[in-house]
Amino acid sequence: MPGVRDLQTMAGAEPITMLTAYDATTAALVDDADVEVILVGDSMGRETLGFDSTLPVTVDDMARHVGAVARSTEDALVVADMPFLSIGVDRAQSVEHCGRMIKEEGANAVKLESGPHTVELTEHLTDLGIPVMAHLGLTPQSHNLTDRVRQATTREAAREQLDLAKRHAEAGAFSLVLEHVPANVAAQITDAIEIPTIGIGAGPDCDGQVLVVNDVLGLTESPPPFSASFGDVRSAMTDAISAYRAAVKDGEYPAAEHTHADSTLDDIA
Ligand code: KIV
Repeated sequence: MPGVRDLQTMAGAEPITMLTAYDATTAALVDDADVEVILVGDSMGRETLGFDSTLPVTVDDMARHVGAVARSTEDALVVADMPFLSIGVDRAQSVEHCGRMIKEEGANAVKLESGPHTVELTEHLTDLGIPVMAHLGLTPQSHNLTDRVRQATTREAAREQLDLAKRHAEAGAFSLVLEHVPANVAAQITDAIEIPTIGIGAGPDCDGQVLVVNDVLGLTESPPPFSASFGDVRSAMTDAISAYRAAVKDGEYPAAEHTHADSTLDDIA
């Protein structure tokens, strides 16, 4: 398993790959493909729990799915995304929630949607032995304040992101997700800090890339414009489900090889 320091060694030498996974089956496939980091993202709220945002995801939801992913992952670093209001309200409670992901569920690190309010917490968690991945740019948990739009689009906002990136790196964050910021801003932030940046919609100059696994698989109906699909799992699933239905309706399933009977059990009525 790459440790958090291995990611720092990889930065600049080869691009780091990170994908989300929310369940055991998908995590094992992502792990087998040698993706270095699996993020149990709170995107789970939209992708698997049927909400229209990440806000309703709870600490219990996250813990259950982090455990499933961690149990099925042998090599990748497993990062637990801390859901809305699970951190930042109260320091002791923030530590308890982050610690639960590591201690009880088997994650290797936590990701915090970051801002000025997470600098001190990042330092505290790191001191306690909980590795922190910071997350700047578009932070979907704040979407009621910011809307889901590209961030850091003015010089002032871009400088603010650069400053926050430096402060989180100094506080001990081991890496930084940059979401939906202009590529040239992401490139400058990547140059300015020692820790690896992992971009999503942030251009090619980050040290790594992260995407939502359902988008990569071609399972999402309307993926975001910065995403890319590398398969057509939606069509494959639709075809398989329709074929199953047709086989049952036509009496082709179950066939003899799917069936067992025992003559001693005849005439049980
Ligand atoms: O929840 C998530 O999937 C994320 C990534 C998009 C970085 O935070």
